[in-house]
Amino acid sequence: MWRLILDNTTLRLQYLEAMGIDVWLPRASAHSEQALSSETVTANAEPETTPATDNWDVLQTEVASCTKCTLCKTRTQTVFGSGNKQADWMLVGEAPGQHEDEQGLPFVGNAGLLLTEMLRAIGMTREEVFITNILKCRPPNNRDPHANEVESCNDYLQRQQKLIQPKIILAIGRIAAQTLLKTDKPLARLRGKVHTFNNTPVVVVYHPAYLLRSLSEKRKAWLDLQLAMQTVKDNEG
Ligand code: URA
Repeated sequence: MWRLILDNTTLRLQYLEAMGIDVWLPRASAHSEQALSSETVTANAEPETTPATDNWDVLQTEVASCTKCTLCKTRTQTVFGSGNKQADWMLVGEAPGQHEDEQGLPFVGNAGLLLTEMLRAIGMTREEVFITNILKCRPPNNRDPHANEVESCNDYLQRQQKLIQPKIILAIGRIAAQTLLKTDKPLARLRGKVHTFNNTPVVVVYHPAYLLRSLSEKRKAWLDLQLAMQTVKDNEG
């Protein structure tokens, strides 16, 4: 079904319009409309576990054969992540869903389509950024990740970040935000601020699956993306 949708330009434009985004052209006034705090919140980083010899091949092979938690028994395949391994932007979602588990790629369902359009709205493509998830395996029936699963996968995410060295991390949705920032604060309290994860700025955005259900939050999603863009710009000096 989603393959058909991917080619449907009209629907794509409708998504953007539903988000309150003027198609293709970010508004010049968007920054001045933004009433977001630039307060910086620092999360405690996990100890570094990256082996001295770490590289993408080693890491990818480890993830593909991972049996650290029971999700390995129910997955079709692992979902390592995709995109530019030297990206300025690293996007971190929650966990693969059914389509991602089938295809081995992150964000390929309807939420992924909207994520692609959100990126396009800020002038970026999926190929330019690196997209991954907190969990590399699909939880059965898309349930929330369990603490031991997050813990098992944590090392992989840390190593991905270290190899990429992104200028910004977008935490996509509540679970990704709470996990990266080691907090149980609701997403509404985490968005609109610049946090850090291993010294990299983190901006929290609404999950596109949530936006598909709650289009009333569309404007906030746009502001979150603007905050992320502004943060990268500011840090470039
Ligand atoms: N939702 C996520 O958080 N990640 C995916 O890869 C797909 C849907």
